[in-house]
Parts: sequence; C-alpha cells; structure tokens
Amino acid sequence: MNKRLIIAIDGPSGAGKSTISKILAERLNYTYIDTGAMYRAVAYSALRRNIDIEDEDALFRMCADVDISFYKKNGSIRVMLDSNDITQGIRSPGLSLLASDVSAKKVVRDALLQIQRKMGESGGVVMEGRDIGTVVFPDADIKIYLDAIVEERGRRRYEELIAKGEDVNLKDITKEIIFRDRNDSSRELAPLKPARGAYHIDSTNITIEEVIKKILGIIGAFEGY
Ligand code: DC
Repeated sequence: MNKRLIIAIDGPSGAGKSTISKILAERLNYTYIDTGAMYRAVAYSALRRNIDIEDEDALFRMCADVDISFYKKNGSIRVMLDSNDITQGIRSPGLSLLASDVSAKKVVRDALLQIQRKMGESGGVVMEGRDIGTVVFPDADIKIYLDAIVEERGRRRYEELIAKGEDVNLKDITKEIIFRDRNDSSRELAPLKPARGAYHIDSTNITIEEVIKKILGIIGAFEGY
C-alpha cells in the first residue's frame, strides 16, 4: 500500500492553491485542509465578539475558546465556527484583510499551528496556506510553491467574486491582493516564502489540469510512495 503523504501547498493569494489542493485531495483520496480558512475564522470570530486584534490577551483567550472545524456537505467543504456555518461569511474582501492582519499575531499563529499539526500528522493530507512547508510541516513529503503573475491572480479572484454575485471591480481586487501579499510576506512570523526543497509551479499560463498533472508527476516520482 502507498504511503499516505503530507503534501504542503503554499503561495500567494489567487495562485490557485484551493482549486488545485481540492482536486488533488479528491484524486488521491486525501483530506483537504484549507489553513487560510482557519485564519479567516479567527478574524470572523474577533469581529463578531468585538475584539480589538491589537489586544493580545483578548485574542489569546478567544483562540483558546474557538472551535473551528470542516465538514463535507454535498461535495463542498463547509467551514464551521462554534457550530455556525461561516463558509460564505469568511470570503469577503474586508475579511481577507482582517485575516491577514490577525495572522501576523503570535497568539493566533501558535494556537492554529497546534491544531494544523494535529490535523495533518498522520498523513494523507493536502494542506494549503502560506507557511505549511516552512513552519507547519517543514518535513512534509512534497512541498509545492504555487505562483502566478499578480494580474492573473487579481483576475481570477475578481471572477470568483463576481460569480458569487459580489459587487467588486478588478482594480480594487488586484490592489487588495498586492497589499495582502506584501502584508503576508513581510511579517516577522512565518512569512510567505518558498520552503526549502519546494517545487515551484507558475500557473499563469497553464490550465488547472496541467498543474495537477505536474504535481501528480512529482508525487509519482517520490521515493516511498
Ligand atoms: O488563503 P487565504 O487567502 O484564505 O488566507 C487568508 C489569510 O490568512 C492570508 O492573507 C494570510 C493568512 N494565512 C497565513 O498566515 N498562514 C497560512 N498558512 C494560511 C493563511
């Protein structure tokens, strides 16, 4: 029987990490874990509870208390916070920025790191985020750094939001992506950067299926798989 691997997929916003990770997990019959959704859930909870994210003590107490989980319903993955379904609510552009700010806080990263390690430690996971290959699982079996030029990433995110019926414009969405990437790569703790030994894939000019094919090729060549 094949070894059940830990596959880490990192990269900037809009590079296609979620789409690719979901398909990959399905094909391999692995669990898909969206760690960005966990930072979004923390931001959502802070907003709901009126917690100032500069107040580290309050954030710490909140993190000790939040219950974030995922479950599959009719083929789609739902994000739950204390038994409320927040899948839709965590996807707005405003919340993306708050999630990015919240994710720079040590108390938040420490709390989520424990949960993420527990979720992935027995393998058979495709975990996506910004620091999976650098911090969460630096010994992951396969590390991918997925990227695309910013114009393309902005366009993808814009189309995603338009399809959901949001009233957004391409220029603002691209600006938000540039701002958030800068935030996520310049922070002190677990900044976004390629992990040592990561395979770089640029998805700007290739299809989703081509990206999947490349990653499946890397997995197939992995010793021990
Ligand atoms: O992947 P996403 O856009 O849903 O992530 C939202 C924010 O969460 C992102 O701007 C940075 C943060 N994040 C992080 O710091 N570390 C991760 N592993 C995943 C996300």
